[in-house]
Amino acid sequence: MADHAILAGKRVLLVIAGGIAAYKSLELIRRLRERGVTVRAVLTEAGARFVTPLSVQALTEDTVYRDLWSLTDESEMGHIRLSREADLLVVAPATANLLARMAGGMADDLAATVLLATDKPVLVAPAMNVRMWQHAATQANMALLESRGVLRVGPNDGVMACNEYGPGRMAEPMEIVDAIAGFFAAESHRPLAGRRAIVTSGPTHEPIDPVRYIANRSSGKQGHAIAAALATLGAEVTLVSGPTRLPDPAGCKVVHIETAREMLAACEAALPADIAVCAAAVADWRVDGASDRKLKKDGGDPPALALTENPDILATLSRPGERRPALVVGFAAETGDVLAYATAKRARKGCDWIVANDVSPGTGTFGGSDNTVHLIRADGVESWPTMPKDAVATRLAEAVAGYFEGK
Ligand code: PMT
Repeated sequence: MADHAILAGKRVLLVIAGGIAAYKSLELIRRLRERGVTVRAVLTEAGARFVTPLSVQALTEDTVYRDLWSLTDESEMGHIRLSREADLLVVAPATANLLARMAGGMADDLAATVLLATDKPVLVAPAMNVRMWQHAATQANMALLESRGVLRVGPNDGVMACNEYGPGRMAEPMEIVDAIAGFFAAESHRPLAGRRAIVTSGPTHEPIDPVRYIANRSSGKQGHAIAAALATLGAEVTLVSGPTRLPDPAGCKVVHIETAREMLAACEAALPADIAVCAAAVADWRVDGASDRKLKKDGGDPPALALTENPDILATLSRPGERRPALVVGFAAETGDVLAYATAKRARKGCDWIVANDVSPGTGTFGGSDNTVHLIRADGVESWPTMPKDAVATRLAEAVAGYFEGK
């Protein structure tokens, strides 16, 4: 159940778009107000076809904002103030149309303009027909918005007003209240506020010639999740990422690099930092004297590639000195004797903790969504059960926060 203490005194700007689920937004207003939340509402033109402005006004006990071009509304409040004088913007129902306009950065009515102008977090509660929700366009819009940090609750599965069954029903008012309370609870749990973190992620690409390179199978999922988890706990995160297909995680500064040497330079430029987590799969070697012209297949022997060692970023960051982060965490990707090799790697590289994972064929650790890790510290080993990489990241970020709390 939503916690009254977390919600009391909070200000929510509720955007009601045009869907049949708009009737549930009236209930949402009541539940929020019962918990001491000030609710101000923006009603779209289509939204006003489903619920009356009078009902919204009566329940919020405030003006209902509807028209971008209203001289009265603009002089009394103005769309910029409207978007800023809230702790959270909630879009319920969030229709396919409004999600598309948000993703496209449109400002063609008051709701879209407020959502574009805001510097506050946004939570959407999608509601639409199942096929509209499953359409590639809506899915892409939602993924884009989430990659920009937009939060989502629902949609739920069930029978819809149009008599079809599937995902698309707006979350129930109390589920939305719980999501809002969850957001404010997470926001107040920021034990890493004021700490700076560097996270490396993804593979590096080491050129052979202008069109070919040496790389590995890292997807960046684990490293990106760690960057996001540290940011959620309040850290100021610089994510140094090799080439991946992932969107930049919200709330992090992201530096995109290709080679190990570029990764090292970007990490050094991000110092000083309190925390460094090296989750990238850095190529140990690069081609010595990579060609600046495409190598030609001329019928003779294949070219011999001479390799030279890359700088070790983890070992460099772990080196004692004034700029050494207080906590340096490495990863160890092993295919056998995981604990023994990882423990030796921790000592050799000089990092404080090492997260060991088995990357043998069949584990799916490289590129997959789950990971099974052992956290090796000076005082012992913790073996965690297999879990999604996001959950590994959250648990590691909490361990990092615990380290600083204990200092
Ligand atoms: O990206 P995903 O698909 O989600 O997969 C996640 C992962 C398997 C890549 C990740 O969990 C992981 O294990 N990352 C480390 C991979 C690796 O290169 O391990 P290693 O044992 O070779 O290196 C040990 C440590 O030294 C790592 O922290 C690595 O980032 C670091 N290193 C290695 C070489 C180098 N030149 N510089 C480094 O900083």
